[in-house]
Amino acid sequence: MKEIKIGKKVITNKYPAICVPVVGKSKEEVLSQANEIVKLQPDLIELRCDIFESTDVEDVKKMLSEFKNTVGEVPILFTFRTDKEGGEKAISDDDYFRLNVEVAKTKNVELIDVEAYSKKDMAPELIKEIKECGVKVVGSNHHFEGTPEKEEIIDTLLQMEKLGADICKIAVMPKNEEDVNTLIEASVQADNKVKTPIVTMAMGELGEITRVCCAVTGSCITFAAGTNASAPGQLKYNVVRELIDSREKFHPDYNVWLIGFMGTGKTTVSQALSKITGMEVVDADEYLVKRENMAISDIFEKFGEKYFRDIESDVIKELGKTSGKIISCGGGAVLRTKNVDVMKQTGKIVLLRASAQSIYERVKDGTDRPILNGHMNVEYIEQLMKQREDKYKPVADIEVPTDKDGLVMTCHDMLSKLKK
Ligand code: S3P
Repeated sequence: MKEIKIGKKVITNKYPAICVPVVGKSKEEVLSQANEIVKLQPDLIELRCDIFESTDVEDVKKMLSEFKNTVGEVPILFTFRTDKEGGEKAISDDDYFRLNVEVAKTKNVELIDVEAYSKKDMAPELIKEIKECGVKVVGSNHHFEGTPEKEEIIDTLLQMEKLGADICKIAVMPKNEEDVNTLIEASVQADNKVKTPIVTMAMGELGEITRVCCAVTGSCITFAAGTNASAPGQLKYNVVRELIDSREKFHPDYNVWLIGFMGTGKTTVSQALSKITGMEVVDADEYLVKRENMAISDIFEKFGEKYFRDIESDVIKELGKTSGKIISCGGGAVLRTKNVDVMKQTGKIVLLRASAQSIYERVKDGTDRPILNGHMNVEYIEQLMKQREDKYKPVADIEVPTDKDGLVMTCHDMLSKLKK
């Protein structure tokens, strides 16, 4: 396990610290946000100084000393995010250097963010001077345009470690699911290669999951919004707190069976929930495909639906012998009462819901849903959903919509309902 002490706080790569940013323009705004945020009891508080109205060292120092008084023991991360890396202001290299060193000298902050990768020339000296003041350094690098290759992400973190950073951070902007996975995989590998703790995240709504699965990525800090978000995709503090803590606190001895019509998000939601809680996930259809060594569409074509339903029942019976797992079922798994009986006896049944239109958007390009062969349209989906409603609704312990909110909020909604 990696550990680093920031003020009195010990931060590890197993249980992330939650850092809440303050993004006030005037001193009054900064202090009033700080006041509110301290009530949340975050692990760290970030002062985004590029948003503060002045870059004058004396103005900043004055504001900082009052800020310190307001936040008390909560360790402070001081950040001047330049416009080049997504921040509010441009600043000359000389001014950037001086501001950060002068802030370090006040010893009113525990941690300073240095854009080490893009300022490689000055980084070693700047980092050294900050550290000489007893202040630790987060070396950071931000990609608002896209997601670099896995190797580049790892290399960036390694380079920042070489430049002297105590914590190495990278943020990327994903354009699709694959980019999010690239960031997650790169983080897992980097956490093994880089000796310092790392901080990683994929920004935007697509990347939300990376802000709450730090035990998977090894990210030792996650940023969450208190009063205002400081970057796209930041979730509210309370949501992040509950989800991060669920990894320790939510260990049901029952299975969580996800049911619902095709395309309601059973696979996606179950995987996200597994990354958050650490619970093992089983995809019943995938399990079936492996067991039979045959694609579902081929099983339907060669042997027909009844044969498929028989195997599906066998699979559910087998999976019913396990416990504490998230089991994502095929859309038709509840058509047979005996399958539902297994689910009821061994766990809770979660019905995922989405509108016919959302479902259509999600499944229209797929070829692996034989039930929709030749009927790939909203009207048919709606009609089949209606026909099955009697099978879904009465058996569900809880219901969760999956097209109202982002993936992480959907998981949060489900966990809150499961805990009730
Ligand atoms: C089916 C749904 C599919 C799969 C099979 C039958 C159904 O699962 O089990 O094609 O009858 O609704 P998904 O809901 O995961 O697409």
